[in-house]
Amino acid sequence: MSDTSKSGRGGFASSLGFMWAAAGSAVGLGNLWKFPYITGEYGGGAFVLVYLVCILIVGLPLMYAELIIGRRGGKDILGALRDLTKGAGLAGTLLSWLAGGMAVLSGLLILSFYAVVAGWAVHFFMLSVGGLDLGEGAGETFGALVGNGPVSAAWHTLFMAMTIFVVTRGIKGGIETACKILMPTLVGILSILLVYVAFTGGLGESLAFLFKPDFSKLSGDAVLEALGHAFFTLSLGMGVMVTYGSYLKDERHVVRDGFWVALLDTVIALMAGAVIFAVVFSNDLEASAGPGLLFATLPGLFAGMPGGALVSAAFFLLVVFAALSSAISLLEVVVAYIVDEFGVPRLRATLGMGAVIWLIGLASAFGLNMPVFLPEALGGGQAVLDTLDNLTTKYLLPLGGLLIAIAAGWMLSKQDRESGFSALRGNGDRLVSSWTFLIRFVTPVLILLVILKGIGIIDFGD
Ligand code: TRP
Repeated sequence: MSDTSKSGRGGFASSLGFMWAAAGSAVGLGNLWKFPYITGEYGGGAFVLVYLVCILIVGLPLMYAELIIGRRGGKDILGALRDLTKGAGLAGTLLSWLAGGMAVLSGLLILSFYAVVAGWAVHFFMLSVGGLDLGEGAGETFGALVGNGPVSAAWHTLFMAMTIFVVTRGIKGGIETACKILMPTLVGILSILLVYVAFTGGLGESLAFLFKPDFSKLSGDAVLEALGHAFFTLSLGMGVMVTYGSYLKDERHVVRDGFWVALLDTVIALMAGAVIFAVVFSNDLEASAGPGLLFATLPGLFAGMPGGALVSAAFFLLVVFAALSSAISLLEVVVAYIVDEFGVPRLRATLGMGAVIWLIGLASAFGLNMPVFLPEALGGGQAVLDTLDNLTTKYLLPLGGLLIAIAAGWMLSKQDRESGFSALRGNGDRLVSSWTFLIRFVTPVLILLVILKGIGIIDFGD
């Protein structure tokens, strides 16, 4: 590997490269596929508002916590936490092992189903390239694809192979280079689509749906989902930002960069939502169509465009790219753990863990169900893909985030804790104290409430 820093672990070449990579991790299927469909299922505006609040008071503080831990610790999530929480004695060690173990588990599970959904986007890309006008029939095409195990598995395999390839190339030559090209292109295409729907209609209704809150539609479950999604979309709770932070050479811009990443991620999700619901409303489709929303609606838009098949191909290619830059971050967490903790060479670690994830993913690709003897909370009898999605987004990521918040707020030395803010002049002091307050009290308490609600220990009365 050519990119060696002091420690020999490699690293990002520039602060901008880091930003694209972190944004590449954050922006993915969560923004383009999941955010629109859960917003549709939970009725729009009020859900979006809760989601935005979660990003601001839980997501952003945790993003800083992860970046600071990674940058100061300079290792994988377990190693970084273990070193930085030394002052907290046994509690610190236990927390580090728990957070580290859960992070690796989440990485394996999330990537396994993520690669299957990304594979579906590859399939739609190939269909568009073949000149097939998906148009009105896209919903059925999608349904048939999901029901077709071997085809889903084939694209899943291809997508995992691409992910593994990039990660074997290392940080600077693989991840950073890929993201620097993929991300700006994505923003470009999405902007064009947004301008297009502004002329073809439906945008007004779409914006009203997204931004006019109707609180009668808001349930406790929606709050749980919104918080979970804030974690998912910012890639928080399982050490992606710790791991990427550990490859950062310069700590001066942690706060600024983290802010941009969160902002870009949110803007892209809202843009995707605006485009998709414009299509939904101008074609009398269902906003609550579920996971098929992205795949069923957009081809209808493309069909009406001049050169529609080409635009369709371009769009699905970008979905694949967005998914790829996120998938590599998921794999990188697991690989960094194996490399840093066990001294296994990067190539071998990547191939080995990649194969394990691919294998787990086959269960989602073939549409298998969880064993029926499992309790319902663990998905007994339900689809593996949905179960893994639920288990990780609603429980493992928030729990991981809780541990990281406790470590950052209570176990780090003051010097480490405040390191990310040191370069900020003027407002720096006030920012440090607001962040410290949030990460110590607000973030953990909110996460805890939501988890307790999730497992049914408390009830908000809905
Ligand atoms: N944030 C990505 C998305 O929105 C998915 C993702 C990448 C992720 N890395 C993660 C989610 C780590 C949770 C944890 O598509």
